[in-house]
Order: sequence, then C-alpha cells, then structure tokens
Amino acid sequence: MKVAIGSDHGGFHLKNNIMQLLDEQGISFQDYGVFTTDSVDYPDISSSVARAVTSGECDRGIIICGTGIGVCIAANKIKGIRAALCHDIFSAQMSREHNDANILTLGERVIGVGPARMIVEKWLTTEFAGGRHSCRVDKITALEEQE
Ligand code: RB5
Repeated sequence: MKVAIGSDHGGFHLKNNIMQLLDEQGISFQDYGVFTTDSVDYPDISSSVARAVTSGECDRGIIICGTGIGVCIAANKIKGIRAALCHDIFSAQMSREHNDANILTLGERVIGVGPARMIVEKWLTTEFAGGRHSCRVDKITALEEQE
C-alpha cells in the first residue's frame, strides 16, 4: 500500500510524526507538503492528496490541518473521494468497514500524537466490510453524477 500524506501549516508537526510512524511500519508514502510552517491555504494541499488517490498514484490518503475539518470538506469535493475526519479509534474502524473511506483527516490542534498514531494504525489496517455496505457506498458514488 502507498499512502499520500499532506498537511497545511496547522498540521505540519503531526504530519511529520505520522510519517515517522509510516516509516516505522514499513509503509511507503508520498509527502505532498507542506514542508515549512509558512501559512498556506488548506484546499491546495487537500486537493493534491485527493488527486493522488483518485489517479491511482496512491492507494489511500491522510491529510492534516488544525481541526481536520477544512481538509475533509475540500477533499470530499473531489470525485471519488470519501474522506473521513476521525478523532477516535471506533470512527476510524467504521470509516473503513462501513464507508470504505479512502482518506483519513486529522486535526493537530484537536488530538494528541499518541491517539493520532493509534487512529492511523487502525485506519490503515482495517478493510472495507463490503456486503450491505457496498450498495450504500455505490449510492454515495451515484450522488456525484446527480449534482
Ligand atoms: C488554519 O489556521 C486552519 O484554519 C486550518 O488548519 C484548518 O483548521 C481548517 O479547517
């Protein structure tokens, strides 16, 4: 699995920490920035990570901002993205099992490094359950064609 990762300035430090975790776990990743704490506009990074996933360049994405909210909203505007903001392990697991989320978003100003690392581990190791959830995810995809 290859993970696309990115953050705005508000998520820069947590991104570095999560990249360390990915290294420790032997998970390959591509860093879409930012590379300093200079202020940027989070939709720019969010859309880069999202497009890395929809193009197939990467399998999943992780995007971090101050709250996790802005990057989640922006990523979900990209066709084919199901981004989930998860600040607890149960939501991380369910976002994969039930929603087949292909992007996880986190807020550095909301959650500590320890819980964030556990959430990432759970999210990356949980598979989509399929079954009755497949037609629901298909209905989400169909909504993209109706707008
Ligand atoms: C940046 O100040 C902040 O607005 C951003 O990181 C994020 O929290 C937006 O949702």
